[in-house]
Amino acid sequence: MNSVIDLLLNRKSVRAYENRGISPEVRAEILRATLRAPTAGNQMLYSIVEVTDQSIKDTLAETCDHQPFIAQAPWVLLFLADYQRWYDYFVASGVPEMCEESQVALRKPEEGDLFLACCDALIAAQTAVIAAESFGLGSCYIGDIMEQYETHQELFNLPHYVFPICLLCLGYPTLQQKERELTPRFDRKFIVSENQYRRLAPGELEEMHRSRQAQVFGNRKSIEGAVNFGQYLYRRKFSADFSVEMSRSVRAILKSWQAG
Ligand SMILES: Cc1cc2nc3c(=O)[nH]c(=O)nc-3n(C[C@H](O)[C@H](O)[C@H](O)COP(=O)(O)O)c2cc1C
Repeated sequence: MNSVIDLLLNRKSVRAYENRGISPEVRAEILRATLRAPTAGNQMLYSIVEVTDQSIKDTLAETCDHQPFIAQAPWVLLFLADYQRWYDYFVASGVPEMCEESQVALRKPEEGDLFLACCDALIAAQTAVIAAESFGLGSCYIGDIMEQYETHQELFNLPHYVFPICLLCLGYPTLQQKERELTPRFDRKFIVSENQYRRLAPGELEEMHRSRQAQVFGNRKSIEGAVNFGQYLYRRKFSADFSVEMSRSVRAILKSWQAG
């Protein structure tokens, strides 16, 4: 083992923070490391918004599926997949005129560009997570930032080619958070395969989820009509209101992207 592996193996999401600020030096170092993250074509297809306004944090705590700890986080970073900056640069550089002159259609950011920008933004976000850990800071992703697009678009003044892909809450963990056990992961054999994708058979899927089923169900035969972990997960997460809202909202973001 080495200290990097040690840090990675012991990271956990932190949702309660000490009432202690993060120094400007530490923030600067974390951002410096974040901006060194690998990026497609060295283009940095993302933007980061530091949310310092308490009223915006309060709004996010509501709009991101009612998660009050967002409002309590000392440092909140919004990661945006961003093609607007490049497209604006193309326009400022006279690319539309160049295309017209040479009679070729002007290409605007498309779905592939969006996915590439999302890769960039997420890799930068995870780099921030690890850099923060190295300073003793805990963090938690908020995927629900993809919900309520219309509200977030107005809140952050998002143009067409900007996709809010994740929010990161950071702060020094409380003692209780530090002492909390790590969450389990599925066994490597279910996740990693060689050369070919390996589709799991029903028996393997059952084996994969067995310990989670035992943990959630205990001695109970059913929970709210669900008789196994698969049914429970479908009800609680996959078909829950927040998942339905996230899909609606992402469709709205895609529509806005395509209308740009
Ligand atoms: C893309 C993404 C979105 C997430 N969104 C949320 C969220 O909205 N709220 C939350 O409390 N945790 C969120 N998490 C944290 C996960 O719940 C957490 O990583 C997972 O339960 C495993 O726990 P661990 O990080 O402590 O190992 C998110 C994580 C990821 C990667």
